Amino acid sequence: MAAPVRHTYSPAHPPVLISRDAIAARVVELGAQIDRDLAGESVLLVGVLKGAAIFLSDLARAISIQCTFDFVAVSSYGKGTRSSGAVKLIKDLDHPIEGRNIILVEDILDTGLTLSFLKRMLMQHRPRSLRVAALLDKPDRRLEPIQAEYVGFSIPNHFVIGYGMDYAERFRNLPDICIFPPDAAD
Ligand code: PRP
Repeated sequence: MAAPVRHTYSPAHPPVLISRDAIAARVVELGAQIDRDLAGESVLLVGVLKGAAIFLSDLARAISIQCTFDFVAVSSYGKGTRSSGAVKLIKDLDHPIEGRNIILVEDILDTGLTLSFLKRMLMQHRPRSLRVAALLDKPDRRLEPIQAEYVGFSIPNHFVIGYGMDYAERFRNLPDICIFPPDAAD
C-alpha cells in the first residue's frame, strides 16, 4: 500500500494558530447569526479576491436563507503602498446591487483601508443594507475606523497563512490558519 501523502509545508510545519475544526465551528455560528439577522430576506455575499474565496465558500454553505455571491478584486501593490491608502478596484461586481442586502466577505480586516474603500464604493450603488464579515480581525493594526458586523476571530498582529491567506501566493490551501514564519510564535 502506498504511504499516505504528507502535506509538507515550507518552512516545515508552521504552528497552527486556529485549527480547521475551530474555523468550521465558528463559520457555522456566523452563518446562523446571518440567518437570524436577515430572516425572511436574501443576501448577496461579495467576496474580496483572493484571500476570502475559501471563507466565502464555507460561509455560503452555512447560510440557509436565499444566498448568491459575487466577487471583487482590489489592487495589490503591497502593504507599503496599501498603507498610503492607494486601493484600486481591478475587478468590479458582475451584477447591480441596488436594493440588495450585501455582506462583504473578507479573510482578514487589518488596517481597514481595503474595506473602507470597498464600503464607500458599494454604498454608491444604494444597497438595501451593507455588512462586513471578516474571518480574522487585527484591531491593533487599524488605520481606518471600521468594524465588521461578523468577526470569526480577533487575533494579535501575527502574519498568518492558510485557509485562503498567503505568503507570496503560497499556502492558501493549508486547511488550518498558521503563523508565518513558524518561529514568530516563539
Ligand atoms: C489582504 C486581505 C484584505 C486586505 C486587508 O489582501 O485579503 O483584502 O489584505 O488588509 P487591510 O485591512 O490592511 O486593507 P491581500 O492584499 O493580501 O490580497 P489577497 O486577498 O489576494 O491575499
